Parts: sequence; structure tokens; C-alpha cells
Amino acid sequence: MSQAFEQKNIVVTGATGGIGFEIVKRLKSQGANVFLVSHDPIALASSLSELGLSHDKGIAVDFLQPESINQVITTANQVFDNHIDTLVNCAGMLSFAPFEQTDPDLLQAILQVNLMTPMRLMHGLLPQMKAAGQGHFVNVGSTFGSIGFGFFAAYSASKFGLRGLSEALRRELEGTGVKVTYVAPRAVKTPLNSDKVYTFAKKTKMNMDEPTWVAEQVVSAMQQNKKDVYLGFPEKLFARLNGFLPRLVDGGLRDQMKQARELFKG
Ligand SMILES: NC(=O)c1ccc[n+]([C@@H]2O[C@H](COP(=O)([O-])OP(=O)(O)OC[C@H]3O[C@@H](n4cnc5c(N)ncnc54)[C@H](OP(=O)(O)O)[C@@H]3O)[C@@H](O)[C@H]2O)c1
Repeated sequence: MSQAFEQKNIVVTGATGGIGFEIVKRLKSQGANVFLVSHDPIALASSLSELGLSHDKGIAVDFLQPESINQVITTANQVFDNHIDTLVNCAGMLSFAPFEQTDPDLLQAILQVNLMTPMRLMHGLLPQMKAAGQGHFVNVGSTFGSIGFGFFAAYSASKFGLRGLSEALRRELEGTGVKVTYVAPRAVKTPLNSDKVYTFAKKTKMNMDEPTWVAEQVVSAMQQNKKDVYLGFPEKLFARLNGFLPRLVDGGLRDQMKQARELFKG
């Protein structure tokens, strides 16, 4: 029986992270040739070993370094003989803090990793995908990419940007064979979230999903060439509602903002 991703060459960023590694495992088990992009060389070595892959099937880079984009594209192209079917943009970082107390360098870094990196990687890979008449960009966004969420302002801004970029490119690329999928999880139990986020989530009874479940949804969206997918109820409803009834969502979030203010008091 043929597998969904049989012999597909797939590059995944954030590949050793909570959601990323679960995506990689599923893609590999369904026949894909995976290339792991990680931040941490030790995590990369151990993930490759767990998957039974040789060390050349991944690269450790820091997306805050401008040369990282070309390093990823060049190395992945070498491994895949200039044929990359899919790029999954899953690397991400966040800050949960009052906006004015967030270090400006951190504001910049969040935009760099969450928005500029996917943009530059897609920009770099698009010519070869268009020439091949096929390709797939899969962007992992967030509910906060549809609902501007206080105390996560830079993160929200980056994910709003990623959602806009995904939508614009999807429209621009219609008919080229290159697809774009945007997947927006709600909160997920991964190391992305600090202890403070977990405390906030507990206080406000925020729903938090398992990374295994989220990865299954991402892989299923890829398989079905979905345009966009919003995960979890009622968050997916609020994400849509915020687009046309934002004042209603203001009211719905007022108590959560109060709880966050309390957390950062003093
Ligand atoms: N967890 C959530 O609540 C949640 C909710 C909605 C959406 N998401 C999105 O899901 C995606 C995956 O996040 P996750 O929850 O799996 O978090 P995670 O476990 O922290 O994974 C994020 C990955 O991105 C990598 N990364 C961060 N900064 C980087 C940099 N400068 N250069 C290269 N790689 C870098 C991290 O590497 P290091 O750890 O080594 O720095 C990590 O492997 C992100 O895009 C995130 O925004 C997460």
C-alpha cells in the first residue's frame, strides 16, 4: 500500500521542538524523506539518531543570523538533489509580558523567527518549486494570529503577519502548482510556553492541546492540501468572529487581560 508522503522531500524548521518533532515523526512514518532544521545541535543529533537518520539529514542554525536562510536552502537542496517538495515552517518563539517591558531586541527576534524566516525561506524556494510546477508551503500559525491577544503583542503581530503572508501567497500562486497551507493551533503543551504562561493558562482555564494531536492535524491538513485550518473549539470560532465582531471579542477577553495584569503586578 502506498503511503501518503512516499518519497516526498520535506524540510521542517523547528524540527526538534514540541510540535515539530511530532510532525517529522509522522511524515517519516508515512514515507517522507525528511530534512530537520533545528536551533540546537545536540537536540538535532539526538532526534536524527532516534529517527535512524544520518547526520547530513539535518542542520542546526540560528534564524537570527542572516546567513541561516541560505544555509538551510543550500544544504537541503544538496541532500534532496535540488528537489524539495514541501517546506514546513514550524520554528517559533514568543514572549508573554507587558509590551513596554519587553526588550526591543526580543520584539525584533520574534518577528525575525516567526515571520521573516518563513517569508525568506519561501522566497528562496519558490523559483525552483514554480519551475517544477509543484510544491507546498505549510505555515504553523496560531489562534493569536487572528485574535490580537494582550501581553503576547509581538507574538500576535508575527502570527497575524504569517497568516496574511500565507493568504496572499496562496492567492498569488493559484495555478502554479505550489500550494500554501496555514494551520493555527490554540495553546499547546510544549517548551515554547514559560511557567508564567502555564500559570496564566491554569488561572484562565485556557484549553491546551497535546503536541501529538496538533501534529496529527498539521499532517492531515498537508495531506488534504487544506488552505487554512484553525484548531480547537471555541477558539476556532473566536478566530473567525474577531474578524467581523471584534468588540464582542474585546468583551470576551476582558477577564483574561485582568488576570494577566494581576500576574505582572509589582
Ligand atoms: N506551544 C503553543 O502553545 C503554540 C500554540 C500555537 C502555535 N504554536 C506554534 O507552533 C510552532 C512550534 O512551536 P512549539 O510549541 O513546538 O514550540 P517549541 O517546542 O519551543 O519549538 C519551537 C522550535 O523553534 C526553534 N527556534 C526558536 N528560535 C529559533 C531560532 N532563532 N533559530 C532556529 N530555530 C529556532 C526552537 O529551537 P530552540 O528551542 O532550540 O530555541 C524549537 O525547536 C511555533 O511556530 C509556534 O508559534 C505553538
